[in-house]
Amino acid sequence: MFALEIENLSFTYPDLTPALEDVSLQIKRKKKTAILGANGSGKTTLIYHLNGIIPAQQGRVKVLGQQVDKKNMQEVRKAVGLLFDNPDNQLFSTTVFNDIAFGPRNLKLDPDTMTRRVQEALERVGIRELAERPPYCLSLGQKKRAAIAGLLAMKPRVLAFDEPFSGLDPEVADQFREILDELVEEGATLVFSTHDVNLAYGWADEVVIMKAGRVLTAGTYDLLRDGQVLKEAALPLPLLAQLFRNSHEQPRTVEEAAALVEPGSGRLKAVDSSR
Ligand SMILES: Nc1ncnc2c1ncn2[C@@H]1O[C@H](COP(=O)(O)OP(=O)(O)O)[C@@H](O)[C@H]1O
Ligand SMILES: [Mg+2]
Repeated sequence: MFALEIENLSFTYPDLTPALEDVSLQIKRKKKTAILGANGSGKTTLIYHLNGIIPAQQGRVKVLGQQVDKKNMQEVRKAVGLLFDNPDNQLFSTTVFNDIAFGPRNLKLDPDTMTRRVQEALERVGIRELAERPPYCLSLGQKKRAAIAGLLAMKPRVLAFDEPFSGLDPEVADQFREILDELVEEGATLVFSTHDVNLAYGWADEVVIMKAGRVLTAGTYDLLRDGQVLKEAALPLPLLAQLFRNSHEQPRTVEEAAALVEPGSGRLKAVDSSR
């Protein structure tokens, strides 16, 4: 079973702007899938369909085998944790604790279980000390952590994150990736949107490349070595794919690339351009 199945999904905003056109996709379970595309390619609109915030106008979305519709909205919301691009759209309580407790309270959990879930979520994202702070006075990175904690407290099996790394400094982005890697290792499925080809190349298992509301192509991160496809999507080739395009080595991270460079000479240990 796939985590998400999208069939012939089309969507037009009320002002008649077309945002999605006949999108069909399958998202594998327990993987990290990047929805990659230039601005305006439909990433956010697609992500918002994954828990029914935007109901399908045409086509279908299935979550863990179940079609998303009005009747099962509560189940869908429990299964899919959706992170908005801007955390201000997600935090509205007087304290971080109350924000994170909002979901579990709605589940009518007993108070001890509820408090334990909130504490676990706070620990997980590393903001235990912020529990009593009002969300509006947090930094962007802290707000994103609080918003993620609010989702984790619901124990969703699918995480649908819109631009989770945008605006974060590199160190915080690294910490976020570690947290997300852990969750995926524990069995969650992550779908995230990004316009960052380097991030998708280095970190995603699977990629979906979008252009003007359509899926151009989808497959493993290897797709991002295809200059033609990226050009069509108005995206650049990942830096490492560009650097190693004539080599049989295909490092995905700077660390992997560094390990291929000979100390002293700075030459690539295993470069293959002459053959
Ligand atoms: N609320 C809205 N009303 C009208 N058009 C919108 C709205 N939100 C997005 N769009 C349009 O829908 C298309 C897809 O946008 P979006 O899903 O936000 O793309 P992305 O997240 O890839 O930047 C764009 O043409 C955008 O201008
Ligand atoms: Mg967007």
